[in-house]
Amino acid sequence: MGSNHLLDTASLDQKEILALFARADLHHENNRTAERKSASLRGRTLINLFFESSTRTRSSFEIAGKRLGADVINVSPSGSSVSKGETLLDTARNLERMATDAVVLRHERSGSAAFLAARLRASVVNAGDGSHEHPTQALLDAYTLRRVWGDLSGRTVVFVGDILHSRVARSNAHLLPKLGARVRFSGPKTLMPPPRFFEELGAAWSYNLDEALESADAIVALRIQMERFGGGRLSTAREYSRSFGINPARLSLAKPDAVVLHPGPINRGVELDTALADSSRSLVLDQVEAGVSVRMAVLERAVLGGLPS
Ligand code: NCD
Repeated sequence: MGSNHLLDTASLDQKEILALFARADLHHENNRTAERKSASLRGRTLINLFFESSTRTRSSFEIAGKRLGADVINVSPSGSSVSKGETLLDTARNLERMATDAVVLRHERSGSAAFLAARLRASVVNAGDGSHEHPTQALLDAYTLRRVWGDLSGRTVVFVGDILHSRVARSNAHLLPKLGARVRFSGPKTLMPPPRFFEELGAAWSYNLDEALESADAIVALRIQMERFGGGRLSTAREYSRSFGINPARLSLAKPDAVVLHPGPINRGVELDTALADSSRSLVLDQVEAGVSVRMAVLERAVLGGLPS
C-alpha cells in the first residue's frame, strides 16, 4: 500500500505540484473524450470518509477514483456507526482492514487528517479538515488559473470574505506563492485572522476591499462559513454583500481581464453577484471540471506512491 499522504499544501514543493499538474493535464484531455476510463488504479479500493456535508468534493473524488478503475466506497456519519458513537480512529481502522488503499477524509476538526495519517497504513488525502487546509481545492484553483494564464508568476490573486475560517484560503496561501503568484486577503475585521497571520505568510491584506482589488488578476470569493461560528460576527447578509460582495462594479476595480472564482457552494447575491457568477468572467464551473482531473492525479500519487510516468 502506498503512503503518500496529501495533508496540506504547506509541505508540497514546486516540483511535486508541477508533476501533479502535468499528470492532471493528461486526465483533463482524456476526461473530455467519450472513453474516459483508465486503469491505473484497477483493483484498488478508496474510501471517501466524509463527516461534513459536501457536493462537489465528495462526488469529484468518487468520479476521479472510478475513472481510474478503483472501487470507491462512500461513508458518512448518518447511516454509519459514527452515529452510534464510534470514534474516527476506530471507524478508519475498521475500514482500512477491508484492504483499503486510500482514505479521503473530510472532518470538522483541524488536524484530523494528520491524526489519521499517523495511525493508518493506508494513504490519507485531506478533503478539508476544519479551518486548517483543503489541499485539493487549492490545487484545482491553481490548475484552473494555469489553464487560463499558462503561468502564475507575477499574478495577483485576491481572496475575499471569511478568511478566518477558510481552509481554502489557507491552502491557497501556501500553494500559490510556490508557483510565483502573490496572494492578498480582504474581509470584514471580524472574519479576518490577526495581522500576524498575514505577516508570517508575507501576504498583503486589507479591511478595505476596493483597495485590495487594485490590479488584481483574479478574485476568489469565499463562502461565509455560518456553521463555524456563533452569531454576532456579521449583522446581515445584505450588509456583507454591500461591503464585500463581488459584483461587476467591484470587478471593474481589478485588471480589465480579471477573472472570478469561488470554491462553492455559492450563496448567490451574498458573496457573489448572481449574474457575474454565470458570466464569462467566472471560472466557477471550470474549477469543478479541473477538480476531477487534479484529484485523479492526487489519488494516483496517494495509492501508487508516485505518479505513473
Ligand atoms: C469548501 C469547503 O468545504 O471547504 N467547499 C468545497 O470544498 N468546494 C468551501 C466552503 O464550504 O465554503
